[in-house]
Parts: sequence; C-alpha cells; structure tokens
Amino acid sequence: MSFLKLGGFIPAVAALSLSAALAQSDPLSAEDTAAAAEDYARYCALCHGAEREGYANDHAPSLRSSSLLAPGNDLFMFRSIAYGRPGTPMAAYREESGGPLSNREINRLVKWLYEQVDTDPRYDENGDNARLPYDRVAGDASLGAQVYARECASCHGPDGEGGTGTQLANQVFLIFASDHLIKRTIENGRNDTPMPAFKDRLGTEEIDAVTAFLRSKATGADFEQPADTTPPAPDEYVINPDSFDPEFNLEDGIYVSAADLNAALEAEARMVILDTRATSWWRMGHIEGAVPIPYYSDFDDIVDDLPRDIWIVGYCECPRAAAESTIRQLRRRGFDKTAVLWEGIQGWAGLGYPIILGEVETVSADE
Ligand code: HEC
Ligand code: HEC
Repeated sequence: MSFLKLGGFIPAVAALSLSAALAQSDPLSAEDTAAAAEDYARYCALCHGAEREGYANDHAPSLRSSSLLAPGNDLFMFRSIAYGRPGTPMAAYREESGGPLSNREINRLVKWLYEQVDTDPRYDENGDNARLPYDRVAGDASLGAQVYARECASCHGPDGEGGTGTQLANQVFLIFASDHLIKRTIENGRNDTPMPAFKDRLGTEEIDAVTAFLRSKATGADFEQPADTTPPAPDEYVINPDSFDPEFNLEDGIYVSAADLNAALEAEARMVILDTRATSWWRMGHIEGAVPIPYYSDFDDIVDDLPRDIWIVGYCECPRAAAESTIRQLRRRGFDKTAVLWEGIQGWAGLGYPIILGEVETVSADE
C-alpha cells in the first residue's frame, strides 16, 4: 500500500475508510444514484450550488471542475467531505465526527459527483485511475513566498487564510492534498472557476517554489476532529427560561447583530440559540447554550421541540447561509420570533464574544 503514503505516513483514521473510498469501479445502481442525488441536494447544494457549479454561498468551490475530478483525486474528495476543513464552512460530514453521513454514503456521493460529468474523469487516457506520486516536490520556499505574495495572496489571503479562493494554509487540506496535487492544481488551475492555470505564466522553478512554500505552512501530521459531545435535550433548549424577552431591533426584519445578541445574553434574557451548521462543527465549539439544529434537519419533525413564543436566534459559520436557510424554514412554519446572527460565529468570535470550545480528538499519523 505504499502508494497511499502521504509523505511517509498514513493517517490512522483515514486508513479505515480507504477500502471504501477506493472501490470505485462499478457504476452506481439506479437506486444509489437517486439516493446520492438526494444527499447532495440536502447536504451540499446550499453552498456548492444545485448544479455543483460552486459559489452559491460561502465561496464554496466547484464540485464539477474536471481538474478537481482528475484521475487519482477521488480519495482527496472522499477525505475532504469526511473530515471537512476546520475553521471554514466546510464541515466534517462523517458520522464519527458528528456529521450525518456514513463512510458508505460519502463514497456513494463521491462516485456520484464523478458520474455527473460527461467523460469519466476518474480514468486517464490509459484507463488508469492513477494516483499522483506522494513524494515531496522540492522547491525554494523563500522564492515561493515571493511568488505567492505576487500571484496568489489576492485570492487566497496573505497568509493562506482564504478569501475568494480556498484556505491554502488549512492543516486538514495540507494533510490530504499531496505536493503533486497542489502542483498540478497550480499548473492546470480549476477550469470553469476563478482559479487560473499558471503553467504558461510561471516557470517550473516558480511553481515548485510556491508548492514548497505552501507545504512549509503545514505544522505536522496531526489534526483535530470533534469528539462526541451530548447536545442539550429539548427541555434544556431555552436559555434562562424564567427570565424576560430580549428586545431585538432586527435589520431587514431578520438580522440581529452580535452586539445585541451578546447584550441579551449578558442581561440573561430568555431565548433559544440554534447552531445551524453540521453538528460536527457545533461539537468543535459554539455559543454557550446553543442547540445543534443543522440546516439539513427534517424541520417538520423538530418543530414540536421548539417554542413559538420565545425568541429563536440562528447562527452559522461564515456568515449566514445555513442560518438563514434554517430560520426561513421555521418562519414558513409560523415561527415569527426568529432572527439570524448577522456576523456568524466567526464574526462573533472576531469581535471577542465568548465561545465554548468542545472536546477534540487528535487524528494522527500512526506509522
Ligand atoms: C456551509 C457551506 C458548505 C456546505 C453545506 C458544504 N460545503 Fe463543501 N466546501 C465549502 C467551502 C467554503 C469549501 C472550501 C473550504 C476552504 O476554504 O478550504 C468547501 C470545500 C469542499 C471540498 C473540497 C474541494 C476542493 O476544491 O478542494 C469538497 C470535495 C466539498 N466541499 C464537498 C462537499 C460536499 C459533498 C458537501 C455535502 C455533503 C459539502 N461540501 C457541503 C462549503 C460548504
Ligand atoms: C483570481 C483568484 C485566484 C488566484 C489569483 C489564485 N487562485 Fe488558487 N483558487 C482560486 C479559487 C476560487 C479556487 C477554488 C476553485 C474551485 O475549485 O472552485 C482555487 C483553488 C486553488 C487550489 C486548490 C485548493 C483546494 O482547496 O483544493 C490551490 C492549490 C490553489 N488554488 C493554489 C493557488 C496558487 C499557488 C496561486 C498562485 C500561484 C493561486 N492559487 C492563485 C482562486 C485563485
């Protein structure tokens, strides 16, 4: 199995799902195709778009660009969905981290994404689903830093923190994206997305240098995933149940500011706070008292657990897509005392308001 090595290690937990991820040969049955399409619409379309085109919300990338769906990238796709990108709106969707999907369902979704594009991009011209090599790309990281500042920082952020482009300094991305995957992405870009191809703009030395520079941002072979945390039971949903209602002045009839929400919490007003992200991200950390009601919930089933006469405020990561979708579902069902946190939890934390950090497990290179 040496071809699976990521620079000399195999992440222990990821290894469990490898056999599932690699069983790509048979086409999906009609039943599995329908189930995967349903999962996509429910869990992914909010950000990645109804047609997998990307950029519906939160700068989520395209999931149909053929240079993403290149031969050998299916494992990278599987892991991106399973483990998410901590610190971004892309949550961990695997059940073990608090997500809604089993390994089998994630594998089915990856296969489905590949089957949605015309020519099957899993295979190269020889019919091989070729893995890219996992060895390092040697390059001059200090030259790479200059190239990065000149060519990449405007989209990916000066420190790789993301912007219109994805977070390139994300530790989970850097563990699952091999040097050669990064290098090939820089060469070929991602067709039909804002990511340009650099192979005619930069020489090999510069491309290798910027690849080495990105690799130098990786801190190690370990990364964190949320541990199991028990969510509040319905009779614990209301914060300060015996207190008074907060006075919210809603912007556009729906948005509450972080300052107003924080003031209401400090005044110990009664309310319900919904964390509308995938439950894995609620487990990682949340506003105190927040209940995980993800945007993909069966709203008809959960409405009986929610009060209609008490303020309900929803928030999500960055900044509002999942929360707004959830609150609109509730409003359609007659919940009028509802609001969306304008800044999202990242904006909230950026303003210095408190967050309860959850337990995490370190997923480590075990070899
Ligand atoms: C709340 C918005 C949101 C939802 C919902 C969401 N994603 Fe993402 N996804 C993102 C963002 C944002 C990124 C890029 C994160 C970054 O900056 O690294 C991303 C990245 C990815 C990537 C990596 C792509 C690449 O170019 O490297 C894959 C694959 C992916 N998502 C698949 C999915 C699938 C499948 C689902 C549904 C199960 C899903 N996502 C649900 C926002 C979302
Ligand atoms: C005009 C904006 C823009 C510029 C300039 C740009 N990128 Fe990108 N990049 C993007 C976007 C947007 C994506 C996600 C594309 C998609 O798949 O939808 C991306 C994706 C990537 C990815 C894949 C990341 C992932 O999450 O899978 C890598 C690697 C990358 N860019 C590296 C670079 C490097 C290195 C440079 C500079 C040499 C650069 N980019 C310049 C916008 C840009």
